Amino acid sequence: NDIRKYLHIFQTPGLPASSIITAVQQQDYSASVWLRRREKLEHSQQKCIVIFALVCCFAVLLALIFSAVDIWGEDEETEEECTSNCSIVLVENIPADLLFPDNTTFHLPLSAGLNNLLDKAERVVEIVSPKWYLNPSDDESNLLTRLQELKHKDIQLKITTGEFNSKELKDLERNHDAEVHEVNMTALAKAYSYLHSSFWVVDRKHFYIGSAGMDLESLSTRKELGVVVYDCKPLALDLHKVFSLYWGLEHKTFMPNFWSKRLFPFFNRDRPGNLTINSTQFETYISSSLFIPKDRSSDLEAISRVIQQARHFIYISIIDYLPLISMQRYWSGIDGLLREALILRKVRIRLLISCREETHPLTFNFIWSLKSLCLEEDNCSLEAKFFSFQRDGSLSGINHNRFMVTDRGLYIGNLDWVGEEFTHNAGAGLVISHPGNVAEKNFTVVEQLQAVFERDWFSRYANTLQTNKIPVCSKQHINKSVLSKSRIYMLSWSLLKVNHL
Ligand SMILES: *[C@@H]1O[C@H](CO)[C@@H](O)[C@H](O)[C@H]1NC(C)=O
Ligand SMILES: *[C@@H]1O[C@H](CO)[C@@H](O)[C@H](O)[C@H]1NC(C)=O
Ligand SMILES: *[C@@H]1O[C@H](CO)[C@@H](O)[C@H](O)[C@H]1NC(C)=O
Ligand SMILES: *[C@@H]1O[C@H](CO)[C@@H](O)[C@H](O)[C@H]1NC(C)=O
Ligand SMILES: *[C@@H]1O[C@H](CO)[C@@H](O)[C@H](O)[C@H]1NC(C)=O
Ligand SMILES: *[C@@H]1O[C@H](CO)[C@@H](O)[C@H](O)[C@H]1NC(C)=O
Ligand SMILES: *[C@@H]1O[C@H](CO)[C@@H](O)[C@H](O)[C@H]1NC(C)=O
Ligand SMILES: *[C@@H]1O[C@H](CO)[C@@H](O)[C@H](O)[C@H]1NC(C)=O
Repeated sequence: NDIRKYLHIFQTPGLPASSIITAVQQQDYSASVWLRRREKLEHSQQKCIVIFALVCCFAVLLALIFSAVDIWGEDEETEEECTSNCSIVLVENIPADLLFPDNTTFHLPLSAGLNNLLDKAERVVEIVSPKWYLNPSDDESNLLTRLQELKHKDIQLKITTGEFNSKELKDLERNHDAEVHEVNMTALAKAYSYLHSSFWVVDRKHFYIGSAGMDLESLSTRKELGVVVYDCKPLALDLHKVFSLYWGLEHKTFMPNFWSKRLFPFFNRDRPGNLTINSTQFETYISSSLFIPKDRSSDLEAISRVIQQARHFIYISIIDYLPLISMQRYWSGIDGLLREALILRKVRIRLLISCREETHPLTFNFIWSLKSLCLEEDNCSLEAKFFSFQRDGSLSGINHNRFMVTDRGLYIGNLDWVGEEFTHNAGAGLVISHPGNVAEKNFTVVEQLQAVFERDWFSRYANTLQTNKIPVCSKQHINKSVLSKSRIYMLSWSLLKVNHL
């Protein structure tokens, strides 16, 4: 071997080569023992490190598991896209004292729609509502009575709410076997925050979503709009996932960093569900706000996409329009998109806003600002009207609709179009749109919603914003900002005059 050759060249006369070799071999041996020991030591050190890392990983994993919101239960269902056969109906609550012409089309009354859902229920009814005060009555079709009777049919009633200490819910829980989960929104969002979501999911198969909650006003004195969708497992399951998320937030005092995979949606705005609804092919998904697991589109993202897809018109019926966050910052979220649609894509926009005592006076300034964008611009049209209705001598915000409809699709949601609603509050929404390549359209739910909008728009209650008059909606704020407002009015008034000249 090499050492021998090496020694042979440098061999000193008088010393036997073998003894040198033995000495070297001994050194070699002890070196290798030392090396092996060292190796062993390093090996055990490595072991320690690996074990330590594993323990760390395990701890992190445990932390993740406990911080994630999980749904327990039999959730391993699939989308069943091919077999879905959804049908949809618009549901409305039109107060009795609201007068429309005789030939007006009305849709299924809300209470009838909800009763239909209860008729179809077999296993479980899940409800989220911002408010609860349904009065009991002897009427058989009374909603509260029907909810109370679910236990006799062995149907589970599950409710999540952001309201603590609702008497009605306490009663449902105590006497009627309902399961109620209260969600402390203030603790979760670390700010004033509300659970504004309003929907039902029945047997993960049928659902309702819309502006109406479970309160008397919603079911009688306010104008509400929503949809009831039957036999639509893929979408119902997606909405059920939103419900499950709220359900899992009971007793939680901080927002989880990670959401359970079971809360991830099937569909979102980039991967909408291709579903057949009333024998027409639609692209559809559920959006939500505040609590947004991976892949779920937020309400703002959904609204943005619907606005961006519109080619000809955008009709918006909403309670409040105020692109501000907590009166502190401008919120361009929706306002910016509308400006883009108006100026760059020449999409016609109509805004129907509820006129009520609480309407913030700056609403008018922002509407004027949008309107003035179209000055001297061809094919640029923004029209705004205020839906006002006097009841008992005061302007009540009777029009509680929260929807948008365009030539391509619709969005029905739970939130008002005010900055902090989208940044602080929880809601959910439904998007249904025609695929891009459809030219001729049947009179589907989208066109029906457009007709609803036009009915309200041309009704006697919708008043045009007049250039030289401060609308009377917001009496209570009027002297606070009357100065700055009159300045803006004068400005837009003079601009209009210039335009006329
Ligand atoms: C879908 O619904 C329609 C009308 O309700 C019915 O005629 C049809 O048989 C249904 N199809 C399936 C696959 O369930
Ligand atoms: C209702 O009748 C009025 C006139 O009586 C008519 O102008 C209007 O177009 C009708 N509306 C519908 C939806 O038929
Ligand atoms: C909700 O959380 C906030 C902040 O953590 C706390 O002050 C409040 O008492 C909680 N509310 C209820 C009803 O537990
Ligand atoms: C729906 O169809 C479009 C194209 O037709 C496709 O890109 C998309 O991935 C489909 N969505 C789902 C959820 O399969
Ligand atoms: C219109 O409805 C008919 C059946 O009512 C259906 O066969 C047709 O595909 C629909 N057209 C579109 C564009 O969806
Ligand atoms: C406005 O619309 C009309 C008709 O749709 C069209 O002929 C005209 O070119 C448009 N003008 C501009 C500036 O886009
Ligand atoms: C969809 O079909 C159902 C059941 O056939 C019907 O009641 C409903 O009015 C239809 N909805 C639309 C938007 O056409
Ligand atoms: C509005 O003005 C009236 C008198 O002009 C005054 O009494 C009232 O306090 C003012 N309200 C506010 C909010 O400033």
